[in-house]
Amino acid sequence: MATVLLTGGAGFIGSFIAKELLRKKHRVVIYDSFIQYISPLDSLYQFYLKERLKDIRSSVVIERGDTRDKSHVAHFIAKHRPNHIIHLAALPIADLSDNNPEEALSTILTGTVNLLEAIRDIGGVDRFVYASSSMVYGDFHLEPIKENHPKNPKDIYGGTKLAGEILTQAYGRRFGIEYTIVRPSAVYGPTDSNQRVSQIFLESAFANKQLILHGGGQERLDFTYVEDVAVGFTLATFSKKAANEIFNITYGQGRSLKEFSDILKNYFPNLKTVELPRSRYRPKRGTLDIGKAKRLLNYQPKYNLEKGIRQYKKFIEQSGALKLMGIKSPLHPLTRLRRKHHKGQS
Ligand SMILES: NC(=O)c1ccc[n+]([C@@H]2O[C@H](COP(=O)([O-])OP(=O)(O)OC[C@H]3O[C@@H](n4cnc5c(N)ncnc54)[C@H](O)[C@@H]3O)[C@@H](O)[C@H]2O)c1
Repeated sequence: MATVLLTGGAGFIGSFIAKELLRKKHRVVIYDSFIQYISPLDSLYQFYLKERLKDIRSSVVIERGDTRDKSHVAHFIAKHRPNHIIHLAALPIADLSDNNPEEALSTILTGTVNLLEAIRDIGGVDRFVYASSSMVYGDFHLEPIKENHPKNPKDIYGGTKLAGEILTQAYGRRFGIEYTIVRPSAVYGPTDSNQRVSQIFLESAFANKQLILHGGGQERLDFTYVEDVAVGFTLATFSKKAANEIFNITYGQGRSLKEFSDILKNYFPNLKTVELPRSRYRPKRGTLDIGKAKRLLNYQPKYNLEKGIRQYKKFIEQSGALKLMGIKSPLHPLTRLRRKHHKGQS
């Protein structure tokens, strides 16, 4: 059993990693500032936060703290002496990073350096895992893109995430801190509250609002279900073969926004879509190559987009989120038909 410190562990991805670590019988210590960058009035943040933590609250240590506070970080790490650190705390939204570059720089870079310094202070940890992003690549040129694809980030978020990778590697080389870098992409699933495209699509479908398909719906993303990402992070944290390596951790298949909306139309037949041109500032993305993670980590993602959307939709229906959105739970067309048939018989 190892003690694993999760920065950002109360977040969407972090809470799923915490569950996976507990399943593997590790001790989990969460360090989180409980910040919600999307206006709380526009999101179900409070509700989703409770959902994230409800099953694990009594099994993990949770402390409120900000990775930008160097002395607090150092104190916390010296107190808990983690064997492994998985570092997720960051401003995680590309558009907001462009508009708040100082916030992106401080949470992504200063926070990372503070952790690496605290690790030096205690004489090292077994592994420092840095959550990067597929946004470090910029436009995808050679699909499926491998980890050594050129890195030309097109925005502040991708730029700061890449700078965090470079600093992590520099600390690794200079001070012998063993690291692993993980690049996820388009993670989706229960309790995401950052208004990414999948959350907007699901919640709009329930609210009977039309979906906006940027790039004429042809824009492709390597949508990855959050449970697969949590397993990928955990494998990367403990595998000996992952030492000082970089991994794409995604599903490994670019799917278009049009395909996403077509899957939703199976559940919401009246769903309307409108196509708009894509922003030229958004990188052209698609499929990431996960061959290295499969080979070295034995990573096998289980959720294709159809299965992931089904799970995510079920969560929204069953968790009580619809009530908070002021939406009555819609009946599946088959259930509606069965009820009609039943009425006709009685
Ligand atoms: N969700 C995705 O599609 C995706 C894709 C690629 C990379 N990532 C990266 O994965 C990580 C987690 O993303 P997420 O989607 O779970 O976001 P999230 O907003 O749900 O979680 C981030 C958590 O970090 C905490 N946090 C933020 N700044 C902090 C700070 N300075 N100190 C302490 N805690 C802080 C927040 O309170 C939150 O609980 C981020 O680093 C993000 O950049 C996410």
